[in-house]
Amino acid sequence: MLPPISHPRRDPNAWSENAEEFYPERFIGSNIDLQGHHFELLPFGSGRRGCPGLQMGMTTVYSIVDQLVHCFNWELPSGVNAKDIDMTENFSLSMGRANHLYAKPTYRLS
Ligand code: HEM
Repeated sequence: MLPPISHPRRDPNAWSENAEEFYPERFIGSNIDLQGHHFELLPFGSGRRGCPGLQMGMTTVYSIVDQLVHCFNWELPSGVNAKDIDMTENFSLSMGRANHLYAKPTYRLS
């Protein structure tokens, strides 16, 4: 397995000095979309070989994340601080975490 490395798309010249920071607010007011028109963000590829399952993929992602957030309260294991979470990525065809994220769900709809 390759060692985790920083992703080349985290280029401060394309984004800003906080390119490495988890800062989703950077997309507020931006015209960058997921359709493959903007090379900063290409989760589904681009052009004629781009992913034909984009709509189904996004519907699935929204549905799963919505249910996880709606049905559970989430906590970090005791002793783990949010700023200590290891966000290192495993650079590959798709980019997963290098190390597992542990979080404790508690069902909240009983
Ligand atoms: C979040 C979910 C998904 C992501 C992130 C994703 C991402 C991708 C990416 C990056 C490619 C390569 C595009 C390229 O080479 O430029 C691709 C291709 C493809 N995807 Fe998806 N995909 C997702 C869901 C789906 C679903 C739900 C389907 C079908 C039901 C699907 C079917 C395909 C097919 C058939 C290709 C090959 C297209 C071709 O080579 O002409 N994908 N996908």
